[in-house]
Amino acid sequence: MRLKDKVAIVVGAGQSPGEGVGNGRATALTFAREGAKVLCVDYNLGSAEETVDMIKKNQGTAAAFKADVTKESDIKGFVADAHKRWGRIDILHNNVGVSISGGDAELLEITEENFDATFNLFDGGYIYNANTGAVDMTVTKWASLVGGGGGIPCEDLRSFQARCKVTSRGHNLQAQLTLTDTSHAGESVTVTVDGAPFVLTINGSKAQLSTPETTAGPHTIELVDPAGCFPPRVVNCPAD
Ligand SMILES: NC(=O)c1ccc[n+]([C@@H]2O[C@H](COP(=O)([O-])OP(=O)(O)OC[C@H]3O[C@@H](n4cnc5c(N)ncnc54)[C@H](O)[C@@H]3O)[C@@H](O)[C@H]2O)c1
Repeated sequence: MRLKDKVAIVVGAGQSPGEGVGNGRATALTFAREGAKVLCVDYNLGSAEETVDMIKKNQGTAAAFKADVTKESDIKGFVADAHKRWGRIDILHNNVGVSISGGDAELLEITEENFDATFNLFDGGYIYNANTGAVDMTVTKWASLVGGGGGIPCEDLRSFQARCKVTSRGHNLQAQLTLTDTSHAGESVTVTVDGAPFVLTINGSKAQLSTPETTAGPHTIELVDPAGCFPPRVVNCPAD
């Protein structure tokens, strides 16, 4: 079972009438067969419920949710529903699509209305979806300060930001120092990540650290200022 304990949302998990199996329904059935809990989203609730019934007949776990993927409030609704039911989201599968003009129209026959409707569905829906899903699947935390920097005169430092991005696979830890003047090229400051020092070498007005994806948290990013201009600033990155 490759998706044991995972939570998946399949948008467009119903299917249009016909003899075959739609991509969305097939995906939902496959995810469930591999052990995922599947939220079957469709604006045709009856069709999503048929998919859920098929999953349950095979001892899978699924629920149906009525939503129109072009409406941001609906998208927020199914993201919240998945969290409420199962506490997490690991997979977001966007299946919804339509063919232009309800058929395979020639390019010059596509009306403005159909073009807009198609764009809204494919791009708007997916962008909303990615955004809304990302907000929920990602915990991003920034710490900022204005003041001095490690070894750099206080008045030259504009800001320090540390960020930890939590994905379902692990963490990306980022720290960035920005100076008001650019005369410090080659100088360095130190940031600790989980207590281990990382030296940031200044390039122009910036010094940046970006760790490759690390394992699940918690992690701590800390900027220590040897010049004593500000107390240590800490960003605590939660566990997944
Ligand atoms: N089935 C194929 O062989 C195939 C092959 C290549 C590409 N595609 C494309 O993949 C996409 C999906 O194919 P399918 O076979 O799963 O289609 P499908 O019509 O069987 O399923 C799409 C589902 O999306 C739902 N839906 C449509 N608009 C929605 C909206 N705004 N909000 C929420 N739900 C909505 C429909 O009710 C339907 O249940 C289509 O764009 C299709 O052109 C399909």
